[in-house]
Amino acid sequence: MKEEVKVQNLIRKVATFDEMTNTAMKIIVDEYQQAVSARRSFLLELSGGRTPVKLYRLLHQKLLSTPLEFPIEFFIGDERYVPWEDSRSNNLLVRNNLLNNNQSLMACLHDFPTQLSRSEAAVVYAKELNELAPNGFDLAILGIGKDGHFASIFPGFADWESDEVTVVTETTENEVMERLSISPKYLFKAQKLLVLLAGQDKSPILDKLMDENLSKENFPAKFLLQHPNLEIIFSEEAAY
Ligand code: 6PG
Repeated sequence: MKEEVKVQNLIRKVATFDEMTNTAMKIIVDEYQQAVSARRSFLLELSGGRTPVKLYRLLHQKLLSTPLEFPIEFFIGDERYVPWEDSRSNNLLVRNNLLNNNQSLMACLHDFPTQLSRSEAAVVYAKELNELAPNGFDLAILGIGKDGHFASIFPGFADWESDEVTVVTETTENEVMERLSISPKYLFKAQKLLVLLAGQDKSPILDKLMDENLSKENFPAKFLLQHPNLEIIFSEEAAY
């Protein structure tokens, strides 16, 4: 199947950012219900960035404001190498918008311990992931940057075949150069990948995903197209 047709079949285009958020929320609830049916915790990976913030607030309001039948374990998919209290930290973004700093929910938040050295933080989080999610996540929420990065896997990333669960990476084009990320291979263990793209400035990303002349080396998000259960929601309206 041509890449263009393949990608077009993966994309759900919606007019408004609210529609994107509500659609993503329904997907999360559906996937959560599957974990409940299996009588176990729901393993949810969270991305940083602006796009998912409204979804995180809605998730708190719709799902986390009442006791859950089975817990949700939240896993930060990538982190900026800054303290968790730093305004650029994904940990802070999730605590403020999804967990509302609720102590019992915060016990279910898992992240790179950035108070350690970067290599130690990668090792410690990999150990936690292997203990809590050895078979990967139930659902991974991802964004894509203009350079094609997802999580903190940036153009030029070379360890695609690494069996490591976490990787140390760098970026020169995005906020905070020193990064930590789940590895592409570990991410692929997830049952489902949900990519959220909002606004016309993200439209070129769709074109590049369809561009057969681009590879994962120069546009990392191309890698996501190989996942058997990938869904992309594109909102014409920008995130707010
Ligand atoms: C991060 C994210 C990153 C993000 C993209 C898109 O730490 O910044 O994990 O991968 O998803 O950069 O970000 P926006 O949603 O802000 O466009």
